[in-house]
Amino acid sequence: MPRKLENLKKIYESGIVLIIRSESEEEALAVSEAAIKGGIKALEITMSVPNALNVIRILSDKYRSEGILIGAGTILDGETARAAILAGAELLVSPQLNPEMIKMANRYQAITISGAFTPRDVIETLEAGADIVKLFPAEVVGPKYVSAIMAPVPEAPIVPTGGVTPENVHEWLKAGCIGVGVGSYISKAARKDGDYQKVTTAAKEFVQAVANAQY
Ligand code: 3PG
Repeated sequence: MPRKLENLKKIYESGIVLIIRSESEEEALAVSEAAIKGGIKALEITMSVPNALNVIRILSDKYRSEGILIGAGTILDGETARAAILAGAELLVSPQLNPEMIKMANRYQAITISGAFTPRDVIETLEAGADIVKLFPAEVVGPKYVSAIMAPVPEAPIVPTGGVTPENVHEWLKAGCIGVGVGSYISKAARKDGDYQKVTTAAKEFVQAVANAQY
């Protein structure tokens, strides 16, 4: 199976893309490792993390062979997209439609998750060739908005991001989302005391909540 399809399967099957937004390289690495221990299969290191490209390089060297999809988030231009791919990212995520990112990703067969908010954004994102549409910021509209937005484009692969928790994830999946983007619930679980076991526990809880909602 082509590698891109294998990678897409990781998102569709696990239903979670973890967003790492940390204050240091060390924290990003520790959170990522703890979350992977908890069952996370796809994650994005946002470009706002200090030395994000180095974090991507370390994680992809270590985890690519274990079947973990390592990505780069908050990509705002084609140059950053290319740098992230060269560092090992196989998934690129942007908060808004960025045709240069999609073009670069398609050249190297990386997956794209591209931000959208309105019906027009969603359709333009699909037309631009993104693999997955990131509904952002999702918490301000709620799952009903997804059902409504999908009426004209029922096959749109939507991943809501912002405010998704183990308690509400089933509502998003029931509304037709193919998975969810999750940030703080997992990635900030150790912020207060540096106990990364809490990240692993939160990841396990999320993985279980998605599995319960999927089947
Ligand atoms: C982000 O870009 O960091 C996301 O919006 C995360 O949202 P969350 O922390 O509410 O999951």
